[in-house]
Amino acid sequence: MKIVVVGGTGLIGTKVVQNLRELGHEAVPASPNTGVNTITGEGLDEVLTGADVVVDLANSPSFEDTAVLEFFRTSGQNLLKAEVNAGVRHHVALTIVGADRVPDSGYMRAKIAQEEVIEGAGQPYTIIRSTQFFEFLRATADAATEGTVVRVPNANLQPIAAVDVAAAVTDVAVADPINGIMEIAGPEKIKFAKLVGDVLAADKDLRTVVAEDHARYFGTELDDSSITAGPDARLGAVTFAEWLAANH
Ligand SMILES: NC(=O)c1ccc[n+]([C@@H]2O[C@H](COP(=O)([O-])OP(=O)(O)OC[C@H]3O[C@@H](n4cnc5c(N)ncnc54)[C@H](OP(=O)(O)O)[C@@H]3O)[C@@H](O)[C@H]2O)c1
Repeated sequence: MKIVVVGGTGLIGTKVVQNLRELGHEAVPASPNTGVNTITGEGLDEVLTGADVVVDLANSPSFEDTAVLEFFRTSGQNLLKAEVNAGVRHHVALTIVGADRVPDSGYMRAKIAQEEVIEGAGQPYTIIRSTQFFEFLRATADAATEGTVVRVPNANLQPIAAVDVAAAVTDVAVADPINGIMEIAGPEKIKFAKLVGDVLAADKDLRTVVAEDHARYFGTELDDSSITAGPDARLGAVTFAEWLAANH
């Protein structure tokens, strides 16, 4: 199959392109770096010609509330319109577990807006909601830093390795659309402060991590079940300890 991977130069996209090629598919990365831009429309019709499946793994260059909402809405609308015109038969997208439960977060609102565009487009689709990637924990710590203190919510996360995310996305890309939402997550629920604390310790980073009930994660408070997965989620194999040992 010809499978266009929008955001195919990113963290997850690179791995998905590689997996699909190993399965014998024609996987085409599409992003500004390859001459395809879902905001301006540049290169979109050309890359979608003859495509069977589109996997959308693009991310917004800005996480500012208005900018990120505009990005996911416009990118989704332009992409889905071009897919309908090209006769693409499956749209796959990666959004976030629990995004609908934390509307105080501008980033999460933008991911829900992305889902709404997909659900309203009339194009067969599968939405994969993932928990946070282990690889995103360092950026999370930076976003939550004030001086030398990292303040995080006193809540569980259920993070997943990028390699497990890519494996799930690959499987979905070559399967039939479910016209609905599925969840993927890491194998363990772990307190946010332990995750960030262990990553910083492994990096010999001297910042202090503090868990607070009212600390915010990208604009929202969290409790133990806000952004952890439900019982039917597909779980990744890589544990936090295994990932940390292999990635510092
Ligand atoms: N981080 C998490 O914990 C998490 C959790 C759940 C879901 N997600 C979602 O997972 C997805 C993939 O994340 P990631 O970390 O792999 O992303 P990433 O590494 O930041 O890569 C972003 C990709 O988007 C592309 N892109 C940016 N602007 C574009 C445009 N106008 N048109 C087309 N492509 C564009 C980039 O292309 P260039 O390389 O050409 O700039 C790049 O390939 C995102 O949708 C994110 O919301 C993330």
